[in-house]
Amino acid sequence: MRQFDEHTITEAVIQRFCETGNARLRTVMSALVRHLHDFVREVEPTEAEWRTAIDFLTRVGKKSDEKRQEFILLSDTLGVSILVDAINHRQPKGATETTVLGPFYLENPPEQPLGADIAPELPGEKLFIEGDVHSLSGAPVAGAAVDVWHSDSEGFYDVQRNDLPEPALRARFRTNSKGRFWFWTIMPRSYPVPHDGPVGEMLQATGRHPFRPAHVHFRIEAPEFETLVTHVFVAGDPYLESDAVFAVKESLIAEFPQMPAGLAPDGKEMKEPWRYLHYRFGLKPLAGG
Ligand SMILES: [Fe+2]
Repeated sequence: MRQFDEHTITEAVIQRFCETGNARLRTVMSALVRHLHDFVREVEPTEAEWRTAIDFLTRVGKKSDEKRQEFILLSDTLGVSILVDAINHRQPKGATETTVLGPFYLENPPEQPLGADIAPELPGEKLFIEGDVHSLSGAPVAGAAVDVWHSDSEGFYDVQRNDLPEPALRARFRTNSKGRFWFWTIMPRSYPVPHDGPVGEMLQATGRHPFRPAHVHFRIEAPEFETLVTHVFVAGDPYLESDAVFAVKESLIAEFPQMPAGLAPDGKEMKEPWRYLHYRFGLKPLAGG
């Protein structure tokens, strides 16, 4: 048949993929066509609306370069990134929940000794972070590479600032024989995702704000375990209920209590009050491991 109506067109397009050698690709293309056609039948866009949609996606592409990935931002703000994360990381009991990597991770951050200060020159409330990394059975994981990164006291990552000569607010630590790591930094702050592009227009047109609640990112890699990518969020942040990228999970919200001046857990004498985070990270064994 050559001629199709608004209902038979879907099967006709799916049929056209029947020669696809790659079975997975055939499944993906068929589902894409089915859902896209159902979407069009439900919404019944005018031709002008469809042109607006094409123009929007074109602008999302044009806004993207090596530093800015507007499609990831679109995926994040539509909840697709966290959905893909959830499907790929169904965590067993005892394993820390995962969340999105985000756009500010740099591979192989500078390795620092335990106890180092990763924000020595930056203004902000001092924060001592202490973590325990363990297996599902609770055994410590020694020698794990713990990458950390977070925003400064104004909500900016080092890569968004032009005034920092060295990487800051990011580092790699190695857990000791007891699976522990600790370091000094400053409190992170909530921040908006980039909203000066088409995704920002979408947020504004739909009455949504672009903010993410304050958090510290962790990526923990150890042999024989799945690499854990997650955040720990600051309890009490006003944006926990409405994270622009839907990445909050209850188990990842932690208290960062204020501690009085005096001796910190690493023996450092603190003249001012400081904040403290202690978090336990459970790693999932590699499949088949
Ligand atoms: Fe972040």
